[in-house]
Amino acid sequence: MFPKWFDKWNRENPTDIYGPAIFAGAIAGAVLVAAGLVALGQPYPTDSMQTGPRGTGMHVPEFKSDLATPDPDIAEVYPDPPYVPAGDEPLARDLYQNVQVLGDLTEDNFNRLMNAMTLWVAPDEGCAYCHGDVDLEEYGKDDLYTKVVARRMIEMTQNINENWDGHVNANKQVGVTCFTCHRGQNVPSDIWFRIAPVETAAAAGWAAIQNRATLRSQYTSLPVDALEHFLVDYNRIGVHDLESRAEGNPSDPGVPTIQDTERTYALMNYVANSLGVNCTFCHNTRAFYDIEQVTPQWSTEQLGISMVQELNNDYLIPLESEYPQERLGPIHADAPKAACKTCHKGYQQPLQGLNVIADWPELATSGTPVYQTDE
Ligand code: HEC
Ligand code: HEC
Ligand code: HEC
Ligand code: HEC
Repeated sequence: MFPKWFDKWNRENPTDIYGPAIFAGAIAGAVLVAAGLVALGQPYPTDSMQTGPRGTGMHVPEFKSDLATPDPDIAEVYPDPPYVPAGDEPLARDLYQNVQVLGDLTEDNFNRLMNAMTLWVAPDEGCAYCHGDVDLEEYGKDDLYTKVVARRMIEMTQNINENWDGHVNANKQVGVTCFTCHRGQNVPSDIWFRIAPVETAAAAGWAAIQNRATLRSQYTSLPVDALEHFLVDYNRIGVHDLESRAEGNPSDPGVPTIQDTERTYALMNYVANSLGVNCTFCHNTRAFYDIEQVTPQWSTEQLGISMVQELNNDYLIPLESEYPQERLGPIHADAPKAACKTCHKGYQQPLQGLNVIADWPELATSGTPVYQTDE
């Protein structure tokens, strides 16, 4: 096929063409991918929410695909506008035998709320989950723990909406209902129990509470007791000091240790994961301690911390004796507790800031509910 002189020359000059071919192919492939990215755009585009002044790098990047996907639970939110009372209807406290919290409601609004509570907390079990399999005349009995707990939950929800307005309506009216935590389940997701000590080789002391990858430590080596330390007990979160620590002895009260710092970071990791944000959502990370450089969300969190401390200490922990054994903690048989993620579920605002309280004036106040007339 080829002239003889070429075959001869070819035989005398053997060349490895595979090396250069692979090299050229790799270059060509890279050029093709780069050209594709330029022409078609990158497949996982991100958006970034600026949280601080320009130039400080304070922003939270998120995938556009995530932003475009709404929280699936939003579809399950149950709206049901209230009946505006005429003023002459009999109230629940006169109609029923044992109404301790919802006495000011008219029959229609009382039933509307019972219906909603059923969908929010016990959609599969129905009214019987709290009232038992009995006739309606016997619904006044407090035989089941679920009803006793539910009554306290109503008071807790009212308290959240009424007294922690600065948190749950921080940007606009959002509020919370039973659904915010329960999402159609008897037991809400993202509740927590005490699990320390986790290091069996060291029953007490420093090593006993860390270096185990657990959910409670966000799978890091950080301490596992941050939630109880800060969100049940009222311990100080701040650890930073601009003065030299040479004088302070870590065993002195008020002198934060390395482990105290690690615990603060454990809490902050939990907070960031609960909201699906990073640290620059609240801090200028060049100075975590400096409250002159934080964002407004930092203050919302501060209120959130006080709120959660109250929810745990005044509502959830005192219910301990009501629950059956299987609802208590696996290690210390402690009451189930709440924290940021019990409401937020990984979103910056629970249910992405949907106004859930508008239809439920009964849950927005511990006093007589105020019904708006549509004009
Ligand atoms: C999640 C628990 C829960 C579910 C589910 C529930 N209830 Fe109730 N129910 C309560 C609580 C708590 C009270 C007492 C409220 C109070 O003390 O103010 C109550 C009280 C009542 C009363 C007043 C009884 C009396 O005589 O004192 C009636 C009637 C009632 N519920 C009907 C219903 C109906 C109908 C359903 C189903 C559509 C239902 N409830 C589902 C928790 C629940
Ligand atoms: C801040 C979050 C939060 C809100 C809001 C909330 N709950 Fe709960 N609820 C909890 C936690 C935490 C528990 C304890 C979980 C357990 O029982 O294991 C619980 C438990 C319960 C239980 C016991 C369930 C069981 O099977 O043990 C009932 C019933 C209940 N809640 C009803 C309600 C009702 C009704 C409302 C609204 C009026 C409400 N909850 C609002 C957090 C919440
Ligand atoms: C939602 C807002 C928010 C997010 C997100 C957040 N923080 Fe914080 N952080 C706070 C608040 C509020 C305080 C002050 C708490 C207090 O002292 O009561 C704080 C305190 C701290 C402190 C202690 C400062 C001192 O004075 O010693 C450190 C360190 C810290 N955060 C680190 C982080 C890290 C690291 C992250 C990311 C993993 C993070 N934070 C995410 C709000 C936030
Ligand atoms: C009882 C439910 C509940 C709990 C518990 C809770 N939050 Fe919230 N949080 C809300 C609601 C509802 C909003 C929305 C308020 C709004 O946007 O108007 C909110 C808003 C926020 C915001 C403002 C977000 C923004 O976009 O401005 C921050 C920050 C925040 N929460 C942090 C926390 C932290 C940290 C904790 C735990 C210490 C916590 N929350 C616990 C219900 C809760």
